Amino acid sequence: MTGNYPHLQHSAWADEDAAARVRRIRTDRWIAYARAEAALAAMEDVLSFPKRTRMPNLLLVGPTNNGKTMIVEKFRRAHPPTEAQDMADGNALIPVIRVQMPCGPDERRFFGAILDAFGMEPWRSDKVAARQDLAVRLMRQTAVQLLVIDELHNVLSGAPIQQRRLLNLLRWLGNELQIPLVGVGTAEALRAIRSDDQLVNRFEPIPLPVWTENDEYLRLLRTLEAVLPLRRPSGLARPALAAKIFALSEGVLGEIVAIVTRAAAHAVLTGAEAITSKLIEEMSFTRPSDRRRVAI
Ligand SMILES: Nc1ncnc2c1ncn2[C@@H]1O[C@H](COP(=O)(O)OP(=O)(O)OP(=O)(O)O)[C@@H](O)[C@H]1O
Ligand SMILES: [Mg+2]
Repeated sequence: MTGNYPHLQHSAWADEDAAARVRRIRTDRWIAYARAEAALAAMEDVLSFPKRTRMPNLLLVGPTNNGKTMIVEKFRRAHPPTEAQDMADGNALIPVIRVQMPCGPDERRFFGAILDAFGMEPWRSDKVAARQDLAVRLMRQTAVQLLVIDELHNVLSGAPIQQRRLLNLLRWLGNELQIPLVGVGTAEALRAIRSDDQLVNRFEPIPLPVWTENDEYLRLLRTLEAVLPLRRPSGLARPALAAKIFALSEGVLGEIVAIVTRAAAHAVLTGAEAITSKLIEEMSFTRPSDRRRVAI
């Protein structure tokens, strides 16, 4: 029997066996929502900017586990590299690269992270200047049009003098390559950028705050329900269930998704085939703030 699941987007998935469905449930998926679409549109906008000395930069700011990296990765996938063999001059084109600001950051590690994004293992003994030359040369050669720096708040894990040097470096890099930078991080990243008078007015913040219990949240629940292959409808957006999930998640996107997907896997494995308040209670989720307390 197939296809009799009007609550699902892909009815056929619901006919698969439990193991296959649990695997689907646990696989990361992209769900569109208004703030993410707006952030992607802002990135498209700076990407299409003509080269000029002062390029506009963006700063995607939000709490941890709230979908920031998913957004920039979605953007990167939308602008995939062109293979070298498809190009007349034999140079691959890499429109977007993403690096992570290293923890305990210094210039060597930062350029090491860029080389890493090109799949190059930098020599440990390399001088900063050598890494810098190579990183900049590779970015020019592959015509990088936009550089994403994730975990930008890690700048603050360095000593003040080091923080200043890295922020200067970012400014220099944007000017040198005449490409927009997209910083990604928590509110601390914003604090780091604000500590530099010249950077602060070059980075436009795009806030990605925790969610509120509004229509957009209910839409998210409905979408999740439609893509998770449970055989029975759960009615996740019904007031009591929606409120329960929201309270446990504290409005953090990654938590909402984790609660719903873990409950969905449980619903498959127990044969319940739908998510209910009772099932969520049985799973005894720890709220993120309680988890932090436990960790201390
Ligand atoms: N658009 C989306 N669609 C579906 N799930 C998402 C989406 N965005 C985020 N998630 C879920 O939230 C989790 C956390 O997202 P992500 O890693 O992007 O957060 P983050 O803001 O970068 O966190 P951190 O600051 O800790 O790096 C993801 O693993 C995924 O399960
Ligand atoms: Mg992240």
